[in-house]
Amino acid sequence: MFNDALHTMTLSDDGSYTAYSKEYDEHYHSTKDGALNESLVKHIYPAFKIKQHQKKIVILDICYGLGFNTLATLYYHKTHNLKSKLYIYSPELDSSLIQSLKDFSYPKEFNIFKDIIEELSLNNLYEDKQFYIELFLGDAREYIKRFHNRFDIVYQDAFSPSSNPTLWTREYFKEIKEGMKEDALLTTYSIALATRLALYENGFILYINSGENYRDATVASFKKLSEFKVVDIEHKIACNPSIYSLRDEKY
Ligand SMILES: C[S@@+](CC[C@H](N)C(=O)[O-])C[C@H]1O[C@@H](n2cnc3c(N)ncnc32)[C@H](O)[C@@H]1O
Repeated sequence: MFNDALHTMTLSDDGSYTAYSKEYDEHYHSTKDGALNESLVKHIYPAFKIKQHQKKIVILDICYGLGFNTLATLYYHKTHNLKSKLYIYSPELDSSLIQSLKDFSYPKEFNIFKDIIEELSLNNLYEDKQFYIELFLGDAREYIKRFHNRFDIVYQDAFSPSSNPTLWTREYFKEIKEGMKEDALLTTYSIALATRLALYENGFILYINSGENYRDATVASFKKLSEFKVVDIEHKIACNPSIYSLRDEKY
């Protein structure tokens, strides 16, 4: 049974289950956008729009949670018949959550990954010809220090800045930047100006990821991307002169 003292399974609006965390008082996904839909439209589609032609794609999935972003990436790879090898690195603080995921009610799209879900839940590692997936049970802030110039894609999908601020600070994004290649991109559901500012202060260009069946999200990269509309961050700062990015020293 997946439900325990800290988590309750919740049906989201696209028919897929997500979970509610009593510890963070937050759902793992937007229940309105739908768990699977949110993962696809806010992370996988925008990232693969830019990266799907690469032969080797290295991804940092912050944080593993229920594993939707990792599993939806595999789903996209399979359904688009991609030939690339995927390397996915994903930290997660909650080891008992990872162990319980073999019993989670995933959407039918993930049925073909049953063995992978079980392997990750039991051993935190999976590898075959196409996929290498590594889960790190511990603090993401420690884990990301291991990587330099490695990632093509970062899925920034921590709990919200108000409930999990240390994964949204200016210093945190500096460490993330260290791990990213020059032509890498980062996707996140957050459109908060403080988040965008923390990215901007680290040299990212910000873009709007918008579509019909979801609320706006953000794409960030160091390079100009013609596929997305740029956020006029200078204008937003001018309209909100008291805005500041989150800083480590406060937490
Ligand atoms: C919003 S959920 C991630 C949802 C996930 N991407 C998915 O698709 O299911 C955030 C996750 O971050 C984890 N977390 C919180 N702080 C962390 C930290 N410092 N390091 C690693 N994981 C952390 C929580 O335990 C939770 O599982």
